[in-house]
Amino acid sequence: MLDIKFNLATEKKSKPDPNNLSFGKYYTDNMFVMDYTEGIGWHDARIVPYEPISLDPAAMVFHYAQESFEGLKAYRTPNGEIQLFRPDRNAARMQSTHQRMCIPQIPVEDFIQACKALVSVEKDWVPSVEGTSLYIRPFVIATEPHLGVKPSDTYLFMIIASPVGAYYEEGINPVKIYVEDEYVRATPGGTGFIKCGGNYAASLISQVKAHDLGYSQVLWLDGIEKKYVEEVGSMNCFFKIGGVIYTAPTCGTVLPGVTRMSCIELLNKWGYTVSEERLPITDIIAASKEGKLEEIFGTGTAAVISPVGELRYEDEVVVVNNGKIGELTQKLYDTLTGIQWGKIPDEMGWTVKVD
Ligand code: COI
Repeated sequence: MLDIKFNLATEKKSKPDPNNLSFGKYYTDNMFVMDYTEGIGWHDARIVPYEPISLDPAAMVFHYAQESFEGLKAYRTPNGEIQLFRPDRNAARMQSTHQRMCIPQIPVEDFIQACKALVSVEKDWVPSVEGTSLYIRPFVIATEPHLGVKPSDTYLFMIIASPVGAYYEEGINPVKIYVEDEYVRATPGGTGFIKCGGNYAASLISQVKAHDLGYSQVLWLDGIEKKYVEEVGSMNCFFKIGGVIYTAPTCGTVLPGVTRMSCIELLNKWGYTVSEERLPITDIIAASKEGKLEEIFGTGTAAVISPVGELRYEDEVVVVNNGKIGELTQKLYDTLTGIQWGKIPDEMGWTVKVD
């Protein structure tokens, strides 16, 4: 159990318009910070005013990108309570990121305690307008000033929080996705299955290309054959073809999303067959031509459930469900957000109250 010291901001910022939050633009009054020093371990957990931090220009994170991050949300329920969604899953995923990135582990219960402590302090920042939440961003950076390549001896674990609305401008309206056939995101043995900033830095070139062509996001193919669909820039991806739901297996190159896992559990509960076999992009194009491609949607903490209305692969443009949200996508959206915002009973035991 962490011994968290509180030295809170005395001046409060004015809150942004909850009807116009967009994603990741505003930050709360305080942040969580904890240090790691080789030989001592994690120490000095504290919640302090949100402000710039000072780092040595030689801090290893700047040069060799040894870092990790997570994303989860706090939701305000109709009776004014605040709850988190499956924070243990984010804590466990951060552990798998740390294992791969040679970063010292943070115990699951300490991660959850730290998130809850910050949200509890920042309760007033959890918005109540429909579709809004407080996005929580835990991250760890390597801080040792050192230019030789090796794991750092010192780290900072920080948690910041940001009131957010929809991730995409489109909101719950279908997004257009560009299938990347030039660059790759991940290969077996690499870092595709963890949450490290470098994965996202390396994806920017394709995102820019997609935007220039009028698409919101990129759908990545596997890095070896460029044949099988993997994930979208900030989401996992699901395809409903002839009544069966397909999503890429998380065997090394795909991020094991908490929303992905929750959708699979809901779909199984509802009696759907969910296949985690690898799915070739050409099968999706063929299914579309045969009239069997029913729905495509992305899942993610930031993006929630995002219907895909159009897919472009090479010169082929596939329009999905006439560019409208599909029935199953809508049902998943309603159920998942219903549980997250406390509007329907949480039969799955996924939510955690914040006092
Ligand atoms: C999330 O969905 O929380 C993510 O971390 C994706 C992100 C890159 C916005």
